[in-house]
Amino acid sequence: MSAQPNSRDMISLYHVDKVYPPNQMALRDIDVTINRGEFVFVAGASGAGKSTLLKLLFAEERASRGQVLVGGRNLVTISRPQKAALRRNVGVIFQDYKLLETRSVLENVAFALEVIGVKKRERFQLAFKMLSAIGLKERIHALPPTLSGGEQQRVSIARALINRPQLILADEPTGNLDPDMTIAVFNLLLEANRCGATVIVASHNLTLIEEINKRTLVLDKGRLIGDFERPKG
Ligand SMILES: Nc1ncnc2c1ncn2[C@@H]1O[C@H](COP(=O)(O)OP(=O)(O)OP(=O)(O)O)[C@@H](O)[C@H]1O
Ligand SMILES: [Mg+2]
Repeated sequence: MSAQPNSRDMISLYHVDKVYPPNQMALRDIDVTINRGEFVFVAGASGAGKSTLLKLLFAEERASRGQVLVGGRNLVTISRPQKAALRRNVGVIFQDYKLLETRSVLENVAFALEVIGVKKRERFQLAFKMLSAIGLKERIHALPPTLSGGEQQRVSIARALINRPQLILADEPTGNLDPDMTIAVFNLLLEANRCGATVIVASHNLTLIEEINKRTLVLDKGRLIGDFERPKG
């Protein structure tokens, strides 16, 4: 029942396997299409392959078999310059936050705007606004190593969303956050989605997934065992 490649689709995977050397099968025969503007959860137990799926979509890992198309580009054969161009339109929130340890919170977030040429004053204004929205107003001058896990997670979220990417890949974005902060972060992700971004969130928090009520892909030991569409709203 696999669909045919279509460049208008934001993301398509065709018969994708991912094997980590020497023989760790992380994804098996994944076939799925995600359209532009969708909000999709990737659910499944620890080790099911959620992070691996997101890494394939960011071209951080390469599929061992099959095709991975993102925005009409085939990530299996993509060149280095094409990869860099693709990544400029993708906001990623990784499980490890990858913050610049010697730059302040505000600089970490503003830096994402510097690389796309936004003027200094505007960069810092936008970064401050985004950080305020997720409760980090008081911590903007702190260095990442001095923050709690949840604070670091919020900085990485602000940095991923600040330049309004067309595609947002979020790996357990609220794993370290309390319920209020979880809501604040999902409000940002949902708002980005309402503004047109495609959002893909890996999570094993089933309560949260139920509550947000969006399309959910379920992985089990590397296989896609469920694809549940939810009512709009
Ligand atoms: N770099 C790697 N080398 C070898 N095996 C790996 C590597 N990364 C992941 N794996 C394995 O691939 C499988 C899927 O891992 P993955 O990180 O995608 O799972 P996950 O669903 O994100 O789990 P979690 O909920 O714990 O984050 C696991 O069995 C894991 O041990
Ligand atoms: Mg993971």
